[in-house]
Amino acid sequence: MTKADLDWAHLDFGYHPTDYNVRYSFKDGAWDQGVVTDSDTIPIHMAATCLHYGQECFEGLKAYETKSGDVVTFRIDDNARRIADSCRKILMEPPPEELFIAAVHRAINANRKYVPPHGTGASLYIRPLVIGTGPQVGVKPAGEYMFMVFVTPVGPYFKTGFKPVHLIVEEEVDRAAPLGVGDVKVGGNYAAGLRASMRARAAGYTEVLYLDAKEKRHIDESGPANFFGITKDNQYVTPDSPSILPSITNKSLITLAEELGLRPQRRVVDVEEIFEFNEAGCCGTAAVITPVGSITWHDRKKVFGDGETPGKYSDELYHKLTAIQTGDEPDPYGWVQVVPEK
Ligand code: PLP
Ligand code: COI
Repeated sequence: MTKADLDWAHLDFGYHPTDYNVRYSFKDGAWDQGVVTDSDTIPIHMAATCLHYGQECFEGLKAYETKSGDVVTFRIDDNARRIADSCRKILMEPPPEELFIAAVHRAINANRKYVPPHGTGASLYIRPLVIGTGPQVGVKPAGEYMFMVFVTPVGPYFKTGFKPVHLIVEEEVDRAAPLGVGDVKVGGNYAAGLRASMRARAAGYTEVLYLDAKEKRHIDESGPANFFGITKDNQYVTPDSPSILPSITNKSLITLAEELGLRPQRRVVDVEEIFEFNEAGCCGTAAVITPVGSITWHDRKKVFGDGETPGKYSDELYHKLTAIQTGDEPDPYGWVQVVPEK
């Protein structure tokens, strides 16, 4: 297969057009067969609930080319389950898991030439989304939905790649409330955090680290990724919180941490603990593992190592995870699945 003519090794994490996307409609109580289209716009009713009342959720996963030329996904079943959880939480119609997987495969197969070649460090980012398309003026769920999947070849989320980023603990903005929707992937959570992220960037930080909204004491997560710390006595510590996204990457790192001799702990993490960690990192599909070089909290700053070099365990976890994802190392867990060509 002739690949698209792209500078694979220098792609940013942005929208790079591909040839096709797929769309399914839910109407009269059923999902249709879907269509493959080359249009990257959608005609939409101006009273659609996604435009007014935030009935929107999305997923993010990646496809990789292995050395032997297969295209593989990573833990796709978890994304299928999570989009259904997101839909149910905001009263949208969830696409059945089989439909989700078939739609992702269909979108990949229609755009195989955009799957970055093995070894370039790039991947095909897959963005499934569900929106309420039916019109409502009163605050009610829509009667009609659209489920779409587009794909786009991407490089690292943080433009420095696998280099430490600099976080600031957010004091003035809450991303999500404990009984809200922070544990699902709905667009409103990202809108809520935009002003915090933009202000942090303007002040010279890469991203914010949110605290729990109730006590402003415990670490929640970063804007686009979960958070972990490595303690001096080799624990992999990651926050347990009702207002963070259950990250599939983090769940995988918990398994891999154990393999590397770390002791994983998912528990409430007091913000003061950052001063005790040897290493810290952000993790997610887009972020993969992004080591944290420093965290600023009020007038205090914790610098990890020299602030510029990834820590030993972050480095090992990164290489272990990406080697499994790209098929360079065997996957004893059944996480990696080949995308069938038809
Ligand atoms: N937290 C937030 C807010 C995210 O947007 C993401 C990205 O999906 C994650 C965490 C990481 O989740 P995952 O590892 O499943 O991609
Ligand atoms: C992902 O990691 O897939 C995400 O959705 C994060 C996003 C904010 C880019």
